[in-house]
Amino acid sequence: TVIQWFPGHMAKAKREVQEKLKLIDVAFELLDARVPMSSRNPMIDEILGQKPRLILLNKADMADEAVTEQWIRYFHDQGRLALPIDAQSGTGVRQIAAAAKEMVKDKFEKMRAKGIKNPRPVRALIVGIPNVGKSTLINRLAGRHIAKTGDKPGVTKAQQWIKVGKEMELLDTPGILWPKFEDEDVGYKLAVTGAIKDEILNLQDVAVYALRFLSTHYPNRLAERYGLDDIPDDIVALFDAIGRRRGCLTSGGAVDYDKVADIVLYDIRTEKLGRLSFETPASRT
Ligand code: G4P
Repeated sequence: TVIQWFPGHMAKAKREVQEKLKLIDVAFELLDARVPMSSRNPMIDEILGQKPRLILLNKADMADEAVTEQWIRYFHDQGRLALPIDAQSGTGVRQIAAAAKEMVKDKFEKMRAKGIKNPRPVRALIVGIPNVGKSTLINRLAGRHIAKTGDKPGVTKAQQWIKVGKEMELLDTPGILWPKFEDEDVGYKLAVTGAIKDEILNLQDVAVYALRFLSTHYPNRLAERYGLDDIPDDIVALFDAIGRRRGCLTSGGAVDYDKVADIVLYDIRTEKLGRLSFETPASRT
């Protein structure tokens, strides 16, 4: 779904998340492990306030493991726990409930001190931008398919609690927030990783961005995948080299740049170039 985030929609989305926060003990901030900053809502600290928060680096199966480790340390240094997960296969998902329980330990201790013998399950909410994997994770935690509500703030349905084992309950509708797309770099990173649908941005522009990034950070993968002896500095020359190698030619024999862009982005999104991360804590600023 292509979402138009107008200021009114953003205000509504923020209000909706804040309404849900009243019902829960802990928020799961779902980020894309390949682009943890770009997939983050720019107002998240303000929106979540003091609510205990567990950061989940989803799609870790597609991210560069060494870089994911850097991000986990980065968040740790900020006093936040971040867990790498793969909601699709379920890797890491089992740790979530235990981590959530640990985060609200003090609150539940107080409940017990007040004489509540069997405290209720820990209540949680998933928040994140579109396509980060919220409904995949809900289904995974629920162990069954939960109908997805429209990717729009304001599309409401009766909220229900999903039981996750004995000790956790999850709201079945996630909090949907917007990315920071006034930053061009963020837009490209979200497009490269497939979080922004291709209709919005020019495919060749996105591929240029991706190829420049790969030339700098993963040149060997590029060389190997497309059988290149060296990576040309000039971006058109790089498009030409890949296009010729892959037979992306027009009937006149010229390189078809749209086709090259398609192939490169397809290869990135289907891990044909291996596990890739598009930002590191160091590259953040
Ligand atoms: P959303 O609710 O936050 O909008 O995201 P959703 O769960 O719909 O997930 C968006 C896409 O990301 C889906 O792919 C989903 O399969 C994929 N995905 C979610 N979590 C993971 C993960 O941990 N690893 C990987 N590799 N992919 C993940 P899609 O192409 O839109 O649909 P489909 O391939 O499932 O049909």
